[in-house]
Amino acid sequence: MEKKQLFESRGQGQIFRFWEGLNEKERANLISQADEIDLDELDDLVSTLVKASGDKESVNFSALKPAPYLPIPEDLDTNEDWQEAKKLGEDALRKGKVAAFTVAGGQGTRLGYDGPKGTFPVTPVKKKTLFQVFAEKIQAARLRYECELPWFIMTSDVNHEATVAFFEANDFFGLAPDSITFFRQGRMPAVDYDGKIILESKSSIAMSPDGHGGALRALERSGSFKAMEDAGIEVLSYFQVDNPLVQAIDPYFIGFHLKSGSTMSSKMLPKAYEKEKLGHFCVLDGVTQIVEYSDMPDDLCALRDPDGKLSFRAGSIAIHVISLDFARSLVAAGSSVSLPFHRADKKVPFVNEEGNTQKPDTANGVKFEMFVFDAIPFSKNPLVIETTRLNDFSPVKNAEGIDSPESCRADQLKLFREWFDAAGINIPQGFDGSIEVSPLYALDKESFVSAWKKNSVSIDFSSDVYIG
Ligand code: UD1
Repeated sequence: MEKKQLFESRGQGQIFRFWEGLNEKERANLISQADEIDLDELDDLVSTLVKASGDKESVNFSALKPAPYLPIPEDLDTNEDWQEAKKLGEDALRKGKVAAFTVAGGQGTRLGYDGPKGTFPVTPVKKKTLFQVFAEKIQAARLRYECELPWFIMTSDVNHEATVAFFEANDFFGLAPDSITFFRQGRMPAVDYDGKIILESKSSIAMSPDGHGGALRALERSGSFKAMEDAGIEVLSYFQVDNPLVQAIDPYFIGFHLKSGSTMSSKMLPKAYEKEKLGHFCVLDGVTQIVEYSDMPDDLCALRDPDGKLSFRAGSIAIHVISLDFARSLVAAGSSVSLPFHRADKKVPFVNEEGNTQKPDTANGVKFEMFVFDAIPFSKNPLVIETTRLNDFSPVKNAEGIDSPESCRADQLKLFREWFDAAGINIPQGFDGSIEVSPLYALDKESFVSAWKKNSVSIDFSSDVYIG
């Protein structure tokens, strides 16, 4: 068999060692997985990331500097620069140049939730799921800017069907089904420490999602880039599935991206504490880049400016505006640059010589992932702008504690209370219920105040309050 010979000739014949005992279906499965593997790419990764030292040493930390960022002004409404940016962003939206893009291919292992993360309920009163929150934010932006605003959602093999079924079962949350495109990210095989592809069962290779950086390849492969181009899209508003507070569509951010001639822009927050698990915006030899929290040395995390602020305080909250042409150029045939892979040591279930799958107690292999923010060093005028936590970031990552459903609920309550205050709504002393405002009612404080002025109702504070 040709495929078997090919893998044998490349030292990976072990994936076919149970071949003789497999039935037709099992053989077809194994072959189709083998077809997904680019052996040249894998050889390269094994020699650079598995057998050599890995990627962590490649950063020269002594030359690393904090990246500059555009600070958020005290008063957005009176700041000319920000108002000019807002107008540009709104104009791009009205002209239909923007698409929303959510990466939702991760496995949500830390949250301990069995299902696509986007189907996790997060809002305080109605328990809307992450996907519903984003759908409503996108719908509200479509109405506000009278634009198509297509939504692209990247899934992975493990959650694609369940994700699509969830949208179908919920009537796509009122959005036109053809305005949402679901596409799967790619997969990479896991290898052992000798660089051999790991077989997870007799007929299947240990394959896993190729990281959110795989989005660029997947957008190209799925025809989504082409569809965007045909629809006149110029920029993507990129966000992660785990963060319901994100301004899915932010005219200021989009406007600054356009105004500064950037091809990939990012939002930052000053880190709340030294070891907060956020990537760091840095500059190395004049090139802006993100150094992931797991790679940043402790002493740099703790370094402080004379005023006491953390020097490397600019934390990435994984919200970007990316120009379509730039994203495409990184995966175009013959492109001189490509996103690097990172190595992650993991416990990878494997098939033993008796043919049974075994779960190891310690890491036994390496998975390969790309990160979308590794595109930043290739971008033109990479812009980093500041935002505020309540307006953009409270992710659901862990089952409890920091970045958990509970902390996210508390942040939503804080945000909605702020909106109530701004609109002059008096919350009775001692009210300990929940408050929630639908994105379809208001997307931000400003729109809440004006909607409330036009259309206020009397609120019954004897139970939870929902404004929708
Ligand atoms: C991520 C960022 C970190 C940032 C933080 C902000 C990475 C490596 N790090 O950390 O710099 O400060 O978010 O919250 O991303 N995903 C896929 N496919 C995959 C893997 C992940 O779509 O193959 C998606 C997930 O569904 C999720 C997002 O990417 O939406 C983040 O992934 P996760 O692994 O949870 O990243 P963090 O470690 O939280």
